[in-house]
Amino acid sequence: MSHEHLSQALRRIAASGTTAMTDRATALREAGRDIISLSVGEPDFDTPPHVLGAAQVALNSGQTKYTPVTGTLRLKQAAALHFRRDLGIECRPEDVIVTAGGKQAIFEAIAATVSEGDEVVVPNPWWVSYPQMVRFAGGKVVPLITQPHQGFRFDPGDLEALITSRTSWLLLNSPGNPTGAVFPLDLLRGIGEVLRRHPHVMVLSDDIYAPLNYTGGAHATLAAGCPDLADRVLTVSGVSKSHAMTGFRIGVATGPAWLIEAMGRLQSNASGNPCSISQAAAVAAFEGPQAFLDDWREVFRRRRDLVVKAIRAIPGLATPVPDGAFYCFVDAAALMQRFDHDDTKLALHLLEHGVAVVAASAFGGKDGFRVSFAADERVLTEAMGRIAAALKQ
Ligand SMILES: Cc1ncc(COP(=O)(O)O)c(C=O)c1O
Repeated sequence: MSHEHLSQALRRIAASGTTAMTDRATALREAGRDIISLSVGEPDFDTPPHVLGAAQVALNSGQTKYTPVTGTLRLKQAAALHFRRDLGIECRPEDVIVTAGGKQAIFEAIAATVSEGDEVVVPNPWWVSYPQMVRFAGGKVVPLITQPHQGFRFDPGDLEALITSRTSWLLLNSPGNPTGAVFPLDLLRGIGEVLRRHPHVMVLSDDIYAPLNYTGGAHATLAAGCPDLADRVLTVSGVSKSHAMTGFRIGVATGPAWLIEAMGRLQSNASGNPCSISQAAAVAAFEGPQAFLDDWREVFRRRRDLVVKAIRAIPGLATPVPDGAFYCFVDAAALMQRFDHDDTKLALHLLEHGVAVVAASAFGGKDGFRVSFAADERVLTEAMGRIAAALKQ
């Protein structure tokens, strides 16, 4: 099989930059090196026992066959509860699609709606897969550049300046990966005002990190904050990050009926139903106890404070305080001359000193790196010590 067999669509995309770094760290570890991985995007907590129990019951009671393509009614009911209770979005079970991870929902929405030349506004730095998905569909990525001193948020006016007659989507991700940016309700309302002037623009709100918000305020999301716009918002959520269930591969999304139908049409031909056992586990995640999420959030908040303090103490590094998710997006511009202004070289240098991080350029940024603080405080302290030693002049 050689290159000429690849489709035009595939030639437009690359493999995920975060996965590449994780693979490299794994290879070094297998070769006997002591590597701390701060490159992964998943909580280090164990999946809660009641979720594992529900998966076991499903397995032992023979729930091992096809389910409806877009998910079981039980899980759609549980997901509708989640959208109403946790995100404040009006939602009925029939408004929900269940997918193999939040990633599949986002991919399907873009693949089902974006045509050659359509423009998709993506706040930058961005989650690695957004631009790839847009390019795969033939769309044009329109970066909405955000700055650390603004907490990686943008002004509604900056968005409006980028909207054209070809704009099909705005992608919003709050709390955000890789920056930890959180969009408060008043800012979402300002964005809503812009959107009302441009009725052809849809919004994909990726709320997969919703419970991981350290501002003390309630999670805000566009479909709840501007209910009159809800018929053009697709809200994506799931259990991967919130309930430490990344391996189960369950995502959920809610939005206008025509879009949910279109995504289901694609799913019915591409993958079929998400795993039956995982769906049963996700019902337990949404309907079971939620109080432990407060404890997890508190643990993450302490880790965040530890990492921000340690990074700021290293000469040449800077970072804003991330308000959510479990990432710190570190600015190393002052040190980049040493690394020929190539942040992949910087990330490889840190890997040589025993810490795996992901270069900012993997997220469309530059001159820095992302660290995940989904590791315990002892490990994080050791990792920060290694980074400090690696960057000592
Ligand atoms: C911003 C963002 N959206 C979506 C996803 C996809 O999550 P899932 O594992 O449920 O597919 C991730 C995972 O890294 C993410 O960081």
